[in-house]
Amino acid sequence: MSYRLVFLALIALELSGCADFARWVRQYTYPPEFRYIERDEVRSTMRELAFHSRELNQLLQSNDGPQAKRTEIIVHLRAMEQAAEKLDQSGWPTNHPLIDMNLPSFRRDVKFAREAIEREPPNFLLAGPVTGACVYCHGGR
Ligand code: HEC
Repeated sequence: MSYRLVFLALIALELSGCADFARWVRQYTYPPEFRYIERDEVRSTMRELAFHSRELNQLLQSNDGPQAKRTEIIVHLRAMEQAAEKLDQSGWPTNHPLIDMNLPSFRRDVKFAREAIEREPPNFLLAGPVTGACVYCHGGR
């Protein structure tokens, strides 16, 4: 009885291991599919960026002034940094020259903006341009 359970568990382990392995191999053997996945990743990251920059814009324009929204503003800037960082990792330099070229500037701008707001006294002036920094890659809006 228990021998059978162990046996089943082993099979399950191997199956999941194989699936991982197969995915790993596919990365290298089927470049088109790999690129397709990447593109999906870019898009979902972009949707994240779009969401946070919209929120950020609203907070910056809030009637109470940005100071009242400082914590939230920082949260959104951090989220944008993290999203952009994800894009920087995967190995796609050659497929996306645009991102390759412009992502560092974008990340730098977001980081500077966050640091300026975290400082005492906070400076919100850099956070505005960040929501327009999409232009690095997106041309004129
Ligand atoms: C480093 C380059 C880069 C920056 C910076 C950038 N984008 Fe993008 N974005 C891209 C690329 C490349 C695509 C096209 C992805 C594809 O469809 O292959 C894209 C696509 C998009 C899309 C379409 C996503 C979809 O569902 O198809 C949206 C929305 C978007 N970006 C919003 C933004 C916003 C908002 C910002 C700024 C906060 C931003 N992007 C900054 C490179 C960038």
